[in-house]
Amino acid sequence: MPSISYTTSLDAITPDKLRGFFVGWPNPPTPETHLRILQGSSHVILALDDATGSVVGFITAISDGVSSAYIPHLEVLPAYQGQGIGSELVRQMLERLRHLYMIDLVCDDGLKAFYGRLGLKPHLAMIVRNYDRQAGA
Ligand SMILES: CC(C)(COP(=O)(O)OP(=O)(O)OC[C@H]1O[C@@H](n2cnc3c(N)ncnc32)[C@H](O)[C@@H]1OP(=O)(O)O)[C@@H](O)C(=O)NCCC(=O)NCCS
Repeated sequence: MPSISYTTSLDAITPDKLRGFFVGWPNPPTPETHLRILQGSSHVILALDDATGSVVGFITAISDGVSSAYIPHLEVLPAYQGQGIGSELVRQMLERLRHLYMIDLVCDDGLKAFYGRLGLKPHLAMIVRNYDRQAGA
């Protein structure tokens, strides 16, 4: 199994370290836009492959810093899934946000068990998706 480090720093992150994400998105953000997403987030945690320095997983949160946070993005590269990296990213993000009242995310039905094991509870969500903006504003 590869050696993985977790970091909140974007200092060493360039677009070329952000390849392969947004699997299955018809109109995915570019690596450059991905970096802008990370820079614009209130909180970011990255999983890095120590052998290459590349990002292999990431989680973001946007927050008012007082009451609430929303977790819009969590992804682990397919080759690195099933090794506990996604769970660790969620655990570390929940720890960083635990001073807040509301911590919300939206997920597909198939991920209810994954998030349930990490302490999240199912709830109804209402959403808007502007698909013509999927690659980023
Ligand atoms: C969801 C995701 C981040 C999990 O990352 P990961 O590193 O594989 O997670 P872990 O190794 O901690 O896996 C924990 C468990 O979740 C399960 N799991 C992972 N993805 C799943 C999915 N899409 N549906 C159902 N179960 C899933 C795994 O089978 C594993 O179960 P097990 O321990 O009983 O075998 C990863 O599958 C991913 O990037 N998926 C695509 C993007 C996505 O769906 N993101 C979530 C947006 S809400």
